[in-house]
Amino acid sequence: MKRVEGKVAIVTGGASGLGLAACHRLAEEGAQVVMADIAEEQGAAAAAAIDGAEFARLNVSDEQNWQALIDSVVAEFGRLDVLVNCAGIVQLASIEHTTEEIWRKVNAVGTDGTFYGCKHAVRVMKPAGSGSIINMCSTASIQGGPNIFAYAASKSAIRGMTKSVACLSTQEKYGIRCNSVHPGNMETPMLRNMYNIVAENDPASAAIMDSLWVGEPVDVANMILFLASDESKSVNGAEMVVDNTTTITEGAVPKPD
Ligand SMILES: NC(=O)c1ccc[n+]([C@@H]2O[C@H](COP(=O)([O-])OP(=O)(O)OC[C@H]3O[C@@H](n4cnc5c(N)ncnc54)[C@H](O)[C@@H]3O)[C@@H](O)[C@H]2O)c1
Repeated sequence: MKRVEGKVAIVTGGASGLGLAACHRLAEEGAQVVMADIAEEQGAAAAAAIDGAEFARLNVSDEQNWQALIDSVVAEFGRLDVLVNCAGIVQLASIEHTTEEIWRKVNAVGTDGTFYGCKHAVRVMKPAGSGSIINMCSTASIQGGPNIFAYAASKSAIRGMTKSVACLSTQEKYGIRCNSVHPGNMETPMLRNMYNIVAENDPASAAIMDSLWVGEPVDVANMILFLASDESKSVNGAEMVVDNTTTITEGAVPKPD
């Protein structure tokens, strides 16, 4: 039997990078995957190339969108077993350069999106008595960084939400697990874009980035697969770091502005 055979999973940010890699691994291991993203063309094309996957448009910052998506997935497949809250954006700025606009933009996707996702997943997983919610954090929520103020704050909020959902589920015996994943630098469009901005504005910091370990999206996808599967049945409220020690050895973060 495959590792997530028969499970129904929603992956936000499924059109690109880590979310896309997670969709591939979950589908390969037998899940029915709903790739939810705001990038319609890219997401639909990606879903067409994966057996057992379909695309759904979702703006994670819109609660009504969430409600409609979760209800339609339950109506179509009869259940929701796994939610991967992976959609996210980063904006390089220190506290001194973080405008209200930057703050709201980053938090609207990361913080609000994860809040709505958890809320509506719990709504349908609770009556089913089971489910696995996987929230994408970052090493930024462990070590912070001088120039990722709003991003680190958002990822830290997601870390706290994760543990609160897990504790509630244990206390109330909902049968839902909720864990966070904390990748270091991973080779995705987000990292490439960030690197290009740094390289343009601050070559010295780009050189530091060049010297840091960079992982492959599948490294994170395999952690997500483990958390989605019943192999992790005793893992709840945990922070799973995928960074090959960079958090504990380097702490280097690029300088942008
Ligand atoms: N790449 C890294 O090094 C790294 C490290 C740590 C954490 N992360 C986190 O992993 C997640 C995925 O990052 P990635 O590197 O794959 O980035 P990416 O830019 O390749 O993919 C992000 C996806 O999120 C989607 N998205 C953005 N706003 C959305 C919205 N409002 N509604 C729905 N979808 C939306 C985008 O369309 C895109 O498909 C993010 O939460 C990111 O913060 C990435």
